[in-house]
Order: sequence, then structure tokens, then C-alpha cells
Amino acid sequence: MLVITVETAILIEWKNYAKKEHSNYFPSLPHLGVSMFNRIVVLLQTLLFIPLYCNQKIDSMGLDLPSGGHLTHGYHTIKKKVSATSIFFESMPYRVDPANGMVDYAELEKLAHLFKPKLLIAGASAYSRDWDYHRMRKVADSINAYLMADISHIAGFVACGLANNPFAFCDVVTTTTHKSLRGPRAAIIFGKKELMDRIDQAVFPALQGGPHNHQIAAIAVALKEAMSYDYREYISQVLKNSRCLASELTNMGHLIVSGGTDNHLFLWDLQRKELNGFSGSIFEALCDRCNISVNKNSLPTDVSAVNPGGIRIGTPATTTRGMKEVEMRQIANFLNEIFILGDSLCTDFVRSMQSKPKVKELTNFIASNDKYAEAINRINQQVLSFAKTFPHPSVPFPHISGMEE
Ligand SMILES: Cc1ncc(COP(=O)(O)O)c(C=O)c1O
Repeated sequence: MLVITVETAILIEWKNYAKKEHSNYFPSLPHLGVSMFNRIVVLLQTLLFIPLYCNQKIDSMGLDLPSGGHLTHGYHTIKKKVSATSIFFESMPYRVDPANGMVDYAELEKLAHLFKPKLLIAGASAYSRDWDYHRMRKVADSINAYLMADISHIAGFVACGLANNPFAFCDVVTTTTHKSLRGPRAAIIFGKKELMDRIDQAVFPALQGGPHNHQIAAIAVALKEAMSYDYREYISQVLKNSRCLASELTNMGHLIVSGGTDNHLFLWDLQRKELNGFSGSIFEALCDRCNISVNKNSLPTDVSAVNPGGIRIGTPATTTRGMKEVEMRQIANFLNEIFILGDSLCTDFVRSMQSKPKVKELTNFIASNDKYAEAINRINQQVLSFAKTFPHPSVPFPHISGMEE
């Protein structure tokens, strides 16, 4: 009974979410993350074209990982097939143009005509610009391929019309529900009506067992929230905040990949690696010590993902805590201070050790150097007293929970 109720709720919320003009789209109810769905879509291709007993491989094309794409869009290196989507299926990446950080649609088109994938995938994990689904649809049509969008990161923007609408052009759309959509850790796969039987079969019985009702119910709540005025205000502020933070850092002389952002995140190119070894891993570790969460991230120009040259920064969490542009300026100041400290720390390390630092060595170096240890401590204290004035929604009384320390 509960399942029927929440499934109905999802369908009702979904009808609003997908808008009436795209009502030939239907959702499949998930239980695993979107990674699994991305594989299901490839499986769907198998169901459509090739009998399972035949060992022929299916081709797909997605954005390369160093360009900001996701592992499950077929990532592999020369030495290793990293993702199951590249182990079980053939995949060919397209990339961003390193000169401007934008998806190189002209190269994508050329490669697609050579490789002729059966599935073309739009979507990314670390790409701050919007997608030209219309152009990708034309490419897909010209090679008779399906077009899929993985909107995991930008689902909240799509829901509120603040990003291009993939439903107008794609055959299948997948999304996690826990990123900008701010729901539970789960996923949804949407497909055109005529594909849904096969997708549903690919979900169950092909890949997963019974439904996880708690997650399904939570997705319904998240979709309902996404339709509210408050959520629209929230996601608009997320965008204003990420634009503000990116432009503050740019004004301080830092390099933001693609020159800005159309969504909740952006990539910061640290540009220092060749000089003193200052990398995304080191910047992330220093930020951790100052209670600021950022991700080390490969840049389109990186040759290896092991020591990435960039940082990925997002604004959904700080916006949820009520921060606006004025706080973004303060956060930019903190980040700039950590950047200057990290740069000087790495230069000192190279001077005294005659080698470029790794995170662990740098931790020992800081421990034996009062100047740096004190500077990190000071920034950390400033970050804590700043953050305390913006309580986390799930911890309304920080003095009771002990968060004050
Ligand atoms: C674009 C994209 N697709 C898929 C995933 C994976 O989602 P899940 O963790 O739900 O498998 C992520 C998560 O980082 C993502 O960014």
C-alpha cells in the first residue's frame, strides 16, 4: 500500500516536473545510484539491438573524465579500462577545448561520425557550462544514435528552468537526486514512453531487487520541494553565489576554467604545479584543515588524474545555510589566503627539500614549522567563527550539539 502511494506521489510530482509538453516521458523508480542507471541505459542498448548471448560490444560516447565527464560515461585510459561502462562496452570520449574550457561540439561531431556510437551522452561531474542538447540531437540523428543526458549535477536548475531543458531533445535522462535537487541519495531514470518497458525490465529483474520504499518516498518529497517557490529562490541563489565566488576569485587574479559558471560549481585552475608542486590535492588538504570543503579535480589540460591541478568548488551547501553574495566575498578571501599560504608553503618545501611536496610530506613539514602551523590555525578559527553564524539546518542548536568547539 505504501509503495502504491509513494509511486503515485512520484508520478504526480513528475508530471509537474517534466512539464506538460514533455508528458511522453516516464520515470523508473530507482533503488541504486545513477551510476547503475547509466549502465542500464547501455544495457538497454543491448536489449534493443543485440541478443545477450552474442558477444558484440555496444558503443557509446561521453565527455572525457579530465574534461569534467563522469566515470560511468565510459572512462578508460591507455593502460586501464577504469569504469565498468568501458570494461563491458566500447566507449570513445569527446572533450572540452582546452583553450576555452567549453565542450568542443565541432570535434564531438567529427568523432561521432567516425566512431558512430549507438548512444551519445551529455552530462558531467565537473563542467560549469550549460549543454547544447539541440546540437547533440542533430549529431545523434545524423548517425542514428540515441541521445541521453545525465543531469545529476544540474537537476535542480533543469527543474526550475534555469538550465537548458534536456527533455525537449533527449531519449533518456538520468539523474541522481542528492545533488542540486537536494533530495535523498538515490536516482531516477526517465525515458520516452516507447522505451520504458525495456528500461523497467533492465532495472528489474535484470539488475536490482525489491524497491527501497524509504528512498522512493524521499524522492517524492524532493520533487515536491523542487516545485515550490522557496526551492526556486534557493536554486537561484545557488547560481548567484557560484557566479559571485567565481568572479571574486577572478578579480583576485585566479584562473577559473571557462571564465565563469552557469550552474552551482566551477573549476579553479591553480596553475602552480609546474613551479613548486602546488596541486589540487595539496589545496584540498589545506582547506580541510581550515574546515572548508572543496574537491581536488583534474583539469582539461592535466595529463594524469593522480595529481590533479585544479579544485572544484560548489555553492549548494553554503546557500542551504543561508549564505549570499556578501558571504561569498568572505569565502573568496579565505580561499585566497589559503592559496597564498599553500603557494609559499610549497615554494619553501621545494627550497629546503629539493623535491616537490606530496600531501603527507607537507603535513610533516607544517608540523615542524610554527609559522605555517599558526597561520593555518588562525584561518581555521576565523572560518569556524564565520560558519557558526550560519547554522546547519539539521543542527539548529550548535551550542547543544557541541559544534561550537
Ligand atoms: C554526472 C554524474 N553521474 C553519475 C554520478 C554517480 O551517481 P551515483 O553516486 O548515484 O551512482 C555522479 C556522481 O558523482 C555524477 O556526477
